[in-house]
Amino acid sequence: MPPPVVCNATTLKEAGTCTGRLVGTAIGVNHLSNNQLTSIAQAEFNYITAENEMKWSSLQPSRGNFNFTNADRIVDFALQNDMKVKGHTLVWHNQLPGWVQNLTSADEVRQVMTDHIKAVMDHFKGKVVAWDVVNEAWANPNDWVNGQPTLRNSVFYQRLGGAFIDEAFIIARETDPTVKLYYNDFRSEAVGQPKGDAIYEMVKGMVERGIPIDGVGLQAHLGLPNDKPAIEDIIANMQRIADLGLEVIISELDGHLCDGETFEEQGVRFHDIAKACVAQPACTAFTVWGIGDRDSWLNTWDELNCMGRRPSGLLWDDDLNKKPAYEGILSGLNGK
Ligand code: G3I
Repeated sequence: MPPPVVCNATTLKEAGTCTGRLVGTAIGVNHLSNNQLTSIAQAEFNYITAENEMKWSSLQPSRGNFNFTNADRIVDFALQNDMKVKGHTLVWHNQLPGWVQNLTSADEVRQVMTDHIKAVMDHFKGKVVAWDVVNEAWANPNDWVNGQPTLRNSVFYQRLGGAFIDEAFIIARETDPTVKLYYNDFRSEAVGQPKGDAIYEMVKGMVERGIPIDGVGLQAHLGLPNDKPAIEDIIANMQRIADLGLEVIISELDGHLCDGETFEEQGVRFHDIAKACVAQPACTAFTVWGIGDRDSWLNTWDELNCMGRRPSGLLWDDDLNKKPAYEGILSGLNGK
């Protein structure tokens, strides 16, 4: 293996370019009219995920009626600024319209899943480099059986069984052979996490069966009710996924401070993950889930008990000043 590269870049995307990784953020259509946010996005990132605009309820709110307006605005912004785009997401239980959730037959679910994947991937063909084909198919711990992770009881699982995951990837590959196809989930960044282990076994099986999957997204929404895994365990998980011949990307990083973690500790935590990505050849992209703390989804997360604190899970504060989290990631992406 070549010696690790060490760089001295002064922006996140230049650091990522120097060490060979895409550096991304999530952006919403409502952020595009905020010049401060777009300036930061242009200066610091070269990879974009639409925060909500490519989800099923945004793109196909009623059967056969597609609305690409907001998603196209985000893709146009990205392409005009030499950024690449990851499509997020094709098959997910959440932000899924009622008309899909209420389907009762396997044939119908298979048909609408196929139609959705084909229509959406065709629309964005040539404009996105990767898709989160299936998102968060594994259940939260309250729904596990005997402490063992189970697949989430979504309409896809109810009607098609666990095979819906293989099917979705096969349809996606048939529709666009040129893009990367990822499985994406949270609370599964590390070895020893039940979901992390279950997802590893799942993708291992997919690879063995010849299912066309290119990589795994480790979301990395860190902090209760999710975990803050030890960096050694994240590194080990990245390695075992890489050993399957897959990419492993950090796809949605944030980490709240509701447990009293300080800005400095957050900076170290984020640094270590960025550095782990740079040290792992299969880690091709590193994405944070937003820009400023003021606009973060963490501020509206129902399950978050922030004990009177602010979640403050991102790289820029409420006034868009850089935090230690920014410096930590910059240093990590520089390979330091
Ligand atoms: O658009 C409606 C608006 O019309 C309405 O007035 C308003 C009132 O609640 O809601 C708006 O929709 C909200 C939407 O974000 C757009 O702002 C939804 O309520 C809200 O639930 C939704 O939250 C998004 C969340 O996914 C939904 O699960 C967050 O912005 C988004 O950051 C978050 O992203 C997810 C990833 O896609 C998958 N991984 C986890 C990650 C964090 O939860």
